Amino acid sequence: MVTSYTAAPDIEVLTSNFPIPGYGLVPVNAFVLKGSEPILVETGMAIESADFMQALRSVIDPADLKWIWLSHTDFDHIGSVHQLLRENPRLRVITTFLGMGIMGLTAPLPMDRVHFVNPGEQITLGNRTLTAVKPPVFDNPCTTGFYDSTSGVFFSSDCFGALLQAVPQSAADLSERDLRDGQVLWATIDSPWLHKVDKDAFAVELDGIRKVAPGLILSNHLPPAPGHLMERFLASLAAAPGAQPFVGPNQAAFEQMLKQMTDAPG
Ligand SMILES: [Fe+2]
Ligand SMILES: [Fe+2]
Repeated sequence: MVTSYTAAPDIEVLTSNFPIPGYGLVPVNAFVLKGSEPILVETGMAIESADFMQALRSVIDPADLKWIWLSHTDFDHIGSVHQLLRENPRLRVITTFLGMGIMGLTAPLPMDRVHFVNPGEQITLGNRTLTAVKPPVFDNPCTTGFYDSTSGVFFSSDCFGALLQAVPQSAADLSERDLRDGQVLWATIDSPWLHKVDKDAFAVELDGIRKVAPGLILSNHLPPAPGHLMERFLASLAAAPGAQPFVGPNQAAFEQMLKQMTDAPG
């Protein structure tokens, strides 16, 4: 089920929890940035597009959207992109050459409906000026986040996500331990290449994000967070390369899980 809430003036969150049996919940967020040229950041999960569209309509008329910011092409980000393009002929998708190319393998984006913004480049959308940012941690090579200098919002895509047992509406309401453990586990699952990084080079990457100094941090897989949590987020990421690598259940464990599910009463 997709629900919505307000994270800040002119910023709405559309969210759903994706359960990973035995591990917890992954929040899956999209965001509506209202203003003179409203932006939808991501378009929800492919599996619940109808729910997503209903929740979206509760916070904005999709006909009023001007832009979709598609950080990358994973199935938890592209769910309603084509429906929105069909419904609103003026809507354009901000992506990259690589993002458009990957979409071409399954559901091509119309070439006259895309607008490329590479990391480091800026785009002014009405009253907002967004600077595209490559987050330090990502699971897809086209991943591009942004910093909005108007609102002080940093959108980090999958970076800073966490596996949680319960999902509040602000990351500030998570205990220090739940936040750190959840972020480290998510990072090892979503970006296993972290175990191979040069730690000094990675520290330089993290410092680059520290210098962004946002007032509000939006992640696709964590509740919105006040900027003062950045140091804790960076500490979680710095711990991820040395954390236990994630190994999923093998066939025997999977059969045990299935047995527990079928044996469960009710
Ligand atoms: Fe992803
Ligand atoms: Fe994601």
